[in-house]
Amino acid sequence: MHTYLVTGGAGFIGSNYIHYMFKKYGDDIRIINVDKLTYAGNLENLKDIENRPNYSFVRADICDKDAISAVFAKEDIDRVVHFAAESHVDRSIESPEVFVQTNVLGTAVMLNCAKAAWELPDGTFKPDHKFLHVSTDEVYGSLEEDGGYFYETTPYAPHSPYSASKASSDMLVKAYMDTYKFPANITNCSNNYGPFQFPEKLIPLIINNALQGKKLPVYGDGKNVRDWLYVEDHAKAIDMVQEKGRLFETYNIGGHNEKQNIQIIHIILDTLREMLPESDPRRANVTDDLITYVTDRKGHDRRYAIAPDKIKAEIGWEPETMFEQGIRKTIQWFFENEEWMKNVTSGDYEKYYDSMYSNR
Ligand code: NAD
Ligand code: DAU
Repeated sequence: MHTYLVTGGAGFIGSNYIHYMFKKYGDDIRIINVDKLTYAGNLENLKDIENRPNYSFVRADICDKDAISAVFAKEDIDRVVHFAAESHVDRSIESPEVFVQTNVLGTAVMLNCAKAAWELPDGTFKPDHKFLHVSTDEVYGSLEEDGGYFYETTPYAPHSPYSASKASSDMLVKAYMDTYKFPANITNCSNNYGPFQFPEKLIPLIINNALQGKKLPVYGDGKNVRDWLYVEDHAKAIDMVQEKGRLFETYNIGGHNEKQNIQIIHIILDTLREMLPESDPRRANVTDDLITYVTDRKGHDRRYAIAPDKIKAEIGWEPETMFEQGIRKTIQWFFENEEWMKNVTSGDYEKYYDSMYSNR
C-alpha cells in the first residue's frame, strides 16, 4: 500500500487529485494532505472524504522544515505529490515575494525533508519511493501566435514572477535528481479548469460574474491563447506519470485544446444560455453586453500550447474530456454548488475550518 504526502491538497487541482485517487484506489492507499490553507485552500473541497480512515489533514506551511520533517517522521511516506504553491499570475505581479517564498523555498524544504527521510547510508534511496513535482507550461515562456509548441526540450524562458518562481522550483528538483539521483519526476501542465477552481481564474470568474450579471473583464484584445485541460484528466496524468513514467524525466501534459480568451468567454455564455431553463431568473443576466475590455495584464504571455507527445508515446496518457463536455460538467458543478461559491467569495470557508478543526 502506498502512503502519499500530498501538498496543497485543499486547493483546486490538489483536491481534485485526492478525489480522483480515492475513486481509483479506494482503501488501497493512504493520503496525508499537508496544506497551509491560504486564501486558495479550502477544506470544504474535501468534505466528502474528510472522515475516511485512510485520509488525514495536517495544517502546515511547506516552508516550515520542522513541521514537514515531523510528517515524514510520523508516517511511512513513499509517494510525494507536490502541488502547494502560490498559483495566480496577477497576484504574483502585485506581490512577488510570497511566490519566491512558497514556490522556491517551500519546494527546497519539501525536497530536503524527503531526501532526509528516504536516503540510505550508501547515498542511494529507499526502493520505490518517488517525488512528483507539479509544475506549469508557463516556465517555457510565450509562443508566437502562428505556430509552435512547448516540448520537454523547450528552453525555459519565464516572464511573470509566478512562472519565474515555478521555473526556479523545477530547477531545484532537477538539481536534486542530477546531484543526488533523488527519485523524482516533473510534470508541466497547461491551464486547468473544472470543479473547485477559485473564482480569481478566468473560467470560474466568467461563470460566476455572468450568472450575477456582472462585467466580464477581458485583458487586452482578448486574443491571448491558452491550452485548456479538464482537471480530472490532469489528475489521471499525474498518477500515470508517477506509476509508469521513467524516473528523472519531465512530462508535458496538455489538452490539445487551444482557445483565445474571448472564444472561451463566448462558449461559456452560449453554454449558460443553453443550460439555464427559461424560468431561471439568472438567464436574463447572461448577455454579451457584459463583455468589457480592460487594461492588459503586465507582461501578458501571448500563447501557450503543449505538445503532449512524450506522455502519450511512453505512458499512453491522452486528454479524454473534450472541451464542450468539460465546460458543461464544470458549469453544472457550479449550478449545484452555489453555496460553495458564496462561501469562497465571502471568505466563509475560514469559518468552516474553525468549526471543523478547532477541537482536533
Ligand atoms: P491553488 O492556488 O488552487 O491551490 C494551492 C494550494 O496550495 C492551496 O490549497 C493553498 O492553501 C496551498 N498552499 C499555498 N501556499 C502554501 C504553503 N506555503 N504551504 C502549504 N500549502 C500552501 O493552485 P492550483 O491551481 O490547484 O495549482 C496547484 C499546482 O499546480 C501549483 O503548483 C501550480 O503551479 C500547478 N499548476 C496549476 C495549473 C492551473 O491551471 N491551475 C496548471 C499547471 C500547473
Ligand atoms: O498555463 C498554466 C497556468 O494557468 C498555471 O500555471 C497557473 O497557476 C494558472 O493560474 C493559469 O495561469 P493563467 O494566467 O493562464 O490563468 P488565468 O485564469 O489567470 O488567465 C487565463 C487567461 O485569461 C490569461 O490570458 C489572462 C486572461 N484573463 C484572466 C482573468 C482572471 C482575462 O482576460 N480576464 C480575467 O479576468
